[in-house]
Amino acid sequence: MNAHSGPGQSRTTETRRRPRRPRTGRIAVLCAFIVPLAALAFFLAPTGHAGLTKVVQVNGTAISVPSGARVSDLAELSALVARDGPTLDVAGDVTALEGGLPAVRHLDGLSLDDVYHLRDGAVITVRHGGPVAERIYRQSEEIPSETVYAGEGNIVSFVQWGAPGQREFYDGMFSGKRAASLVTTPVTHTVYRLDSTPQPGQKLAALTFDDGPGTHTHSVLDALAARHIPATFFVLGSSASAYPDIIQRMRDEGHEIENHTWSHPWLTKVSAETFNSQIQRTNAVIGGSRYLRPPYGDTNSTVRARAAALGLQLAFWTVDTRDWERQEVEAIMSHVKAETQPGAIILMHDGGDNRLQTVAAVPVIIDWLFEQGYSLTTVDQIL
Ligand code: NI
Repeated sequence: MNAHSGPGQSRTTETRRRPRRPRTGRIAVLCAFIVPLAALAFFLAPTGHAGLTKVVQVNGTAISVPSGARVSDLAELSALVARDGPTLDVAGDVTALEGGLPAVRHLDGLSLDDVYHLRDGAVITVRHGGPVAERIYRQSEEIPSETVYAGEGNIVSFVQWGAPGQREFYDGMFSGKRAASLVTTPVTHTVYRLDSTPQPGQKLAALTFDDGPGTHTHSVLDALAARHIPATFFVLGSSASAYPDIIQRMRDEGHEIENHTWSHPWLTKVSAETFNSQIQRTNAVIGGSRYLRPPYGDTNSTVRARAAALGLQLAFWTVDTRDWERQEVEAIMSHVKAETQPGAIILMHDGGDNRLQTVAAVPVIIDWLFEQGYSLTTVDQIL
């Protein structure tokens, strides 16, 4: 081959030219042989003459097989081994080697198992089956709305109502594994604001309860506790001494405890000595007080002066619910709605009689006051 390069040519030219001419010559020579051979094979192949081979493509790789080979003869060929896909759980872990998509073994687009003859140039495609994930089931649960009290102090204002949310879970049917969880409806919380001093423009109202403690006082306290509403209790010393546990609960739950005398006399009709005894015995039981609410609202300048001498200020009311008449809640509410103004001190009774109607009215009054934009607090924040 080197004979073609001339002595006067540069080395660069020589190397560039050298492969060309011999290749052209070689192809021509090969063609001269192959074409007749191919033609011969074409005519001989159908007769299955021994010594000739067929070429099949298995996943793109050419494989020679003996002439006359059938599909069944390929069974031992490792390239044709394909397995079905595995089963996966929702986390992607294999839970079984079977159960996935079936393996693919195709010859010219037909299932390999259905073809008998293996023709020359056949295209065989072999593929493992893909995985199949377990089924997922969906569950949902409610996200409960909570009640939030923001801030500190005994002035309670309503800010917003809450609503429950919804969360969905997607779990593997068999593994029980959690594939995903998502909030489909966000929860909103019921919010109250607490202040320790009145804010500019804030409308205040105070719930007050007289003549207790008694057998219904716990129910009143429960109704107040349900909304964390502070109230003011004008207690009788004689009852307070009989129910020290209720007095303690009032204190623990942030209520204001004030003086309503020892035994509920008409204060304009008692002696100075009796007056002082009524007040001081009660103070001894409740640990002192700042306000005196005279029974029946019965007062005059003497009562005022005697109270002041003991360091007490008189405290009356601006809204008389007349709950002591044992009216229905609606009737109680009609008084509240008609008489409530900013700075309202609302009179009710937790002692002295059956107070079921008062217990029932408490949450209704609270809701109505909040709806009207009132903040609820104790008497000492208003007087
Ligand atoms: Ni009273």
